[in-house]
Amino acid sequence: MIVPVILSGGSGTRLWPLSRKNRPKQFLALVGNTTLFQQTVERTQKLGDARSPIVVCSEDHRFTVAEQLQELGLGGSSILLEPAARNTAPAIALAAMQARQNDPEAILLVLPADHLIGDETSFVDAVKRATPLAAQDWLVTFGIRPEAPETGFGYIKRADAVSDSGFKVAKFVEKPNAEAAAQYVQSGDFDWNSGMFLFKASRYLEELEKHSPAIYTATARVFATAQPDLDFVRFDKASMIEVPDDSIDYAVMEKTDRAAVVPVSCRWSDIGSWSALWEAADKDADGNAMQGDVIALDTHNTLVRTYERHMVATIGLDDVVIVATPDATLVAARDKVQDVKKIVDQLSSAG
Ligand code: GDD
Ligand code: MG
Repeated sequence: MIVPVILSGGSGTRLWPLSRKNRPKQFLALVGNTTLFQQTVERTQKLGDARSPIVVCSEDHRFTVAEQLQELGLGGSSILLEPAARNTAPAIALAAMQARQNDPEAILLVLPADHLIGDETSFVDAVKRATPLAAQDWLVTFGIRPEAPETGFGYIKRADAVSDSGFKVAKFVEKPNAEAAAQYVQSGDFDWNSGMFLFKASRYLEELEKHSPAIYTATARVFATAQPDLDFVRFDKASMIEVPDDSIDYAVMEKTDRAAVVPVSCRWSDIGSWSALWEAADKDADGNAMQGDVIALDTHNTLVRTYERHMVATIGLDDVVIVATPDATLVAARDKVQDVKKIVDQLSSAG
């Protein structure tokens, strides 16, 4: 039985000014009418025989999560509330402990709440192909063909096939430096880690205990404080603060020898920036992705998003991003939007 686990704890600062601390990108309708979080949950319901998900999120976002699940008619899901964020290794461990309690054989499909998948049929197909591997105690990652030497991703080197659709992982390198990333892409032997995983809850916990025992032990202590409260499960804050902060990629995937990769081509994007959203969006004949009240003259390959009937007009622009919200507007060169992070840092240090 596959239990979807939706990781929804990120703060998503790179889509400022639309995403804010109390409204990170997973809770925004960036493409289509539903939010990325809702699209992620809906995707899991296409797996057939789907269980309602376990959502792991910050206590601060509990009402947003509950409301967005309710809108999908999925009340009754388990919502694990983190009193402090300790990154993905502990977040997944809490979900695994919860799932294992109900079903010792549970297989978890771990999904970040903030990714876009253009081709859901391929995604569902990849999960089906990966399921027998997870049942054989592999920790399965889903590999994406790399398009550029991005340093924000994990890189996976394939070894021998372990089924007709999966390979043993020879090497997993989380966020390599630019030089190594370029070499990996050029070699043709590496996939990007999509950040989606399929494994038995019990196997993940065994590997975590083996490779990062401090995280395992501290998270088990947190889990022992679980207090169910309707759909929510609360945990003790002081215990959570004791948990070392680390991601599954460093704490487990780089170290385990039980990793396998199933390649998937499902038009995946982690929408890490406005330019990634432009790439993923539907565009008009001039290459523009416009949303809201926009008039564009002689404008090309540009993204404009405007909200609340604020009209934006552009003349003679190429490769620009404009995002106009009621209280802040971003105008940036499309190839410089990674620096939005610097603006957010300045804003937060200004208090
Ligand atoms: N509940 C919870 N708690 N969720 C969290 C936490 C946490 O403390 N920290 C992060 N998340 C969620 C984020 O919201 C996101 O959906 C997901 O977990 C992954 O975290 P990111 O912080 O976005 O990771 P990343 O993008 O730097 O790297 C990961 O994803 C890449 C693909 O997008 C890694 O797995 C890379 O290897 C991978 O290539
Ligand atoms: Mg991410």
